[in-house]
Amino acid sequence: MTVIAVIGSQWGDEGKGKAVDFLAERADYVARFNGGNNAGHTVINQFGTFKIHLVPSGIFAQNTTGLIGGGVVIDPQVLLEEIEMLNKAGVGVDGRLWVSPRSHLIMPYHKILDGLYEEAKGKGATGTTRRGIGPVFADKVSYNGIRWTDFTSDMFEQRLEVQLTLKNKIIVALGGEALKFEAVRDEYRGYYARLKPYIRELFSIVQDGLKANKIFLLEQAMGTFLDTDWGTYPFVTASTTIPSAASAGLGIPPKYINNVVGVTKAYTTRVGGGPLPTEIHDTESEVYKKFGEVAATTGRIRRVGWLDLEIVRTAAQLSGMTEICLTKLDVLSGLKEIQVCAGYKLNGESVRYADVDAYGLDKVEPVYKSLPGWSEDITQARTFEDLPANAQNYVKMIEDAAGVPVKMIGVGPEREATIRR
Ligand code: GDP
Ligand code: IMO
Ligand code: MG
Repeated sequence: MTVIAVIGSQWGDEGKGKAVDFLAERADYVARFNGGNNAGHTVINQFGTFKIHLVPSGIFAQNTTGLIGGGVVIDPQVLLEEIEMLNKAGVGVDGRLWVSPRSHLIMPYHKILDGLYEEAKGKGATGTTRRGIGPVFADKVSYNGIRWTDFTSDMFEQRLEVQLTLKNKIIVALGGEALKFEAVRDEYRGYYARLKPYIRELFSIVQDGLKANKIFLLEQAMGTFLDTDWGTYPFVTASTTIPSAASAGLGIPPKYINNVVGVTKAYTTRVGGGPLPTEIHDTESEVYKKFGEVAATTGRIRRVGWLDLEIVRTAAQLSGMTEICLTKLDVLSGLKEIQVCAGYKLNGESVRYADVDAYGLDKVEPVYKSLPGWSEDITQARTFEDLPANAQNYVKMIEDAAGVPVKMIGVGPEREATIRR
């Protein structure tokens, strides 16, 4: 059996969507297991250009069945829009996309509270996507959540009534406007009616698939260092992002997760607050302009920095990474010199990522190593040998530092701009 987890080894936006789209040709099942529509995964293929938030990025491969596990939180309106958009583009998701009835719903009050909490924190804000992610996961673990399964009885109305009694008090106290029961009930009953054909228990699909040796491609949302436990808390997201989350989020026993592809950007980006040791602050510099990106979900400008090998090394250890998919190598073309962070110093002592908390990580000094760049455009390279020697050396240096082979290399945003090694 082959279960492949595709995870980001930095702070998100490593290019997981593209990697999953590329790998999906060989997969039977493509699945999301964590997060929600805070994710924004870019896919560029024969169907067009897509920014996907909830549907697995492997859905474009017509041989696949898409699964959205119970570990994912769902904004029904976003899911409906996405399904409609994919069907319009000719991808055809009906009859091959299943959503777990165990998944929790993002309710209007979750989005309102997300914004109110962020504003209350001022300068210490996490910089969330304001999609209601923290509040919905908080409700999940405090037994206050609403799930699809609640619509099969009158539990939905009962639970909504209690939640609105609680949440409206907080919303009003913080200066917001109370939500009306009837309006929320009717809106969500309407979503359920439209999404019902996609809602199906995944237990037997997953178990039968594992038994029949089907290939599962598991698409992580966010990145390793946004993980609630192992990320830069409190500048993290509300779900577990390391591969073990796929076990709870989909019902796949841990022993099956035997391949972990660590998608790693050739430099570093981060959206929102929190430490970024290799951050480049000079917005006029050549590298800042080269590395600059716009966030796929919120349209914010991503913060940028040099590649941090301590981060990649730690991700490899935490996730049991078996191979690296290096992305955006093409973006480094034209730099005379490339800096990489080989490790950290704090008060003159060497420290590792795990030795410090988020506030300590903000104080570490990166120990930089400089590598010669290359001037050639590499977007047409399709084999490792097509790459200039200095680009090859950059790749080898990453393998050595992480102790994991680089088996895929991205040289452009399109699916085919990929080197398979
Ligand atoms: P994800 O959240 O991990 O799926 O990543 P995003 O889609 O949010 O951000 C990655 C960005 O990099 C997107 O704009 C992709 O189209 C782009 N991208 C991915 N791989 C490559 C690559 O190898 N080269 C270039 N130039 N762009 C890439
Ligand atoms: P993908 O899957 C990058 C960040 C937010 C914020 C923190 C908490 O596209 O890589 P949240 O809304 O989750 O409560 O915000 O996490 N964040 C992401 N950053 N890529 C993502 O997803 C992210 N999802 C959340 O910017 O700092
Ligand atoms: Mg993204």
